[in-house]
Amino acid sequence: MDKLVVFGARPLIGEVKISGAKNAVLPILAATLLTDEPCTIKNSPNLRDTNTMIRILRSLGKNVEFDRDVIEVTSKANGKFTAEYKLVSTMRGSFCVLGPLLAKLNKARVSLPGGCVIGVRPVDLHLKGIEALGAEVKIEGGYVNAKAKILKGNHIYLGGEFGSSVLATENVMMAATLSKGKTIIEAAACEPEVEDLANFLVKMGARIEGQGTPRIEIEGVKNLHGAEHKVIPDRIEAGTFLIAAAITKGKITLNGVIWQHLLAVIDKLAQAGVRVKRTDGRMIVNAKTRLKPVNITTLPYPGFPTDLQAQFMALMAVTPGISIITEKIFQDRFMHIAELNRMGANIQREGPHSIVQGVKYLSGAPLMASDLRASAALVLAGLVAKGRTDISRIYHLDRGYENLEVKLKALGANVRREKE
Ligand code: EPU
Repeated sequence: MDKLVVFGARPLIGEVKISGAKNAVLPILAATLLTDEPCTIKNSPNLRDTNTMIRILRSLGKNVEFDRDVIEVTSKANGKFTAEYKLVSTMRGSFCVLGPLLAKLNKARVSLPGGCVIGVRPVDLHLKGIEALGAEVKIEGGYVNAKAKILKGNHIYLGGEFGSSVLATENVMMAATLSKGKTIIEAAACEPEVEDLANFLVKMGARIEGQGTPRIEIEGVKNLHGAEHKVIPDRIEAGTFLIAAAITKGKITLNGVIWQHLLAVIDKLAQAGVRVKRTDGRMIVNAKTRLKPVNITTLPYPGFPTDLQAQFMALMAVTPGISIITEKIFQDRFMHIAELNRMGANIQREGPHSIVQGVKYLSGAPLMASDLRASAALVLAGLVAKGRTDISRIYHLDRGYENLEVKLKALGANVRREKE
């Protein structure tokens, strides 16, 4: 297992290229199951999760080549319709093969992903959506078994207790592309990754309107064909670098970003006293000024993303004053608090809220990464802490950040990967 060793207290200065979005490439790869024709996916991030999805596609009979940032998916699926537990359990995103398998083969057997450290993470909305399209669903032996003689379009309300669901919207949208007649998904997730998937499906011949809004309309078609697509930039990676500049009081230019996708984060950084300037396809973040505490509440897009909550908490941990961070998407996504407190932070959890009392400095410590975004928060804290921070179990980080330590080093960070 690898660990990261970080020495803090240096401003990050320079330019960084943002990779393609993890949460867009995963469902886009799953969508290639909807056709027998070749697909080319450009700007694909080389991540552990991308490679897990590639292994799932191969297990389902696809031929997949990954060269630099281009993924080519060819060959006919071989009629296999089971996504195995050992792959699905390592990455929840793989559950989005359910919709395409069901639509293409009229049956799917997909392992239930189970809970994870950020919360219970049920799949009731996924199942409600495909049942509304006419699938018969049974849970047996830890698997979802779904079958349908024919899928038929329907009017589906997909809102849940915590708002819309990204992967459920994606699963139902993919299943609906090959259903008979019209499907309307209400309370659909509006995340840019859902929109990117829909845009790819349209290139494959799907008839979809309203992507990026809470009402998506899909007119089913008989077949989908191969397509070529360039994945959108990763707004969460971009947000992590914006916060990295803020926490180290540095100046970073981010290349290949979409400003519109980061409005909530830019707004909160502005309230904290960090200026982000927009130029053509780039952002410049300059954080020389004194920081102010701000409260954040995570919400579905275009609200503040839950996937940046931990990183923002690391920033507030070293910002004088009190800030309140409220998690409204994943109730237990607070595993990073204990580790940040081990570095000298003063953070208390009260149900869905965390009260962060900014401290003058953090000190380096041996830390344990618990999930992807929590790991990123620990790296950010390490970048500003006094002394040495060792972060173990960084396979979590490798799930969602491409070459993080290489990119940080290029910005002047003192960070290295070591074998434990
Ligand atoms: N929910 C239900 N029932 C369902 C599905 C979801 O109650 O059937 C609840 C969830 O428990 C949660 C809320 O709805 O409270 C929203 O969850 P959502 O389904 O939108 O999350 P997801 O689709 O499983 C994706 C991302 C996550 C990201 C969330 C929220 C992928 C592969 N994953 O997960 O990304 O946090 O949307 O934006 O797209 C990450 O990248 O680190 C990550 C966890």
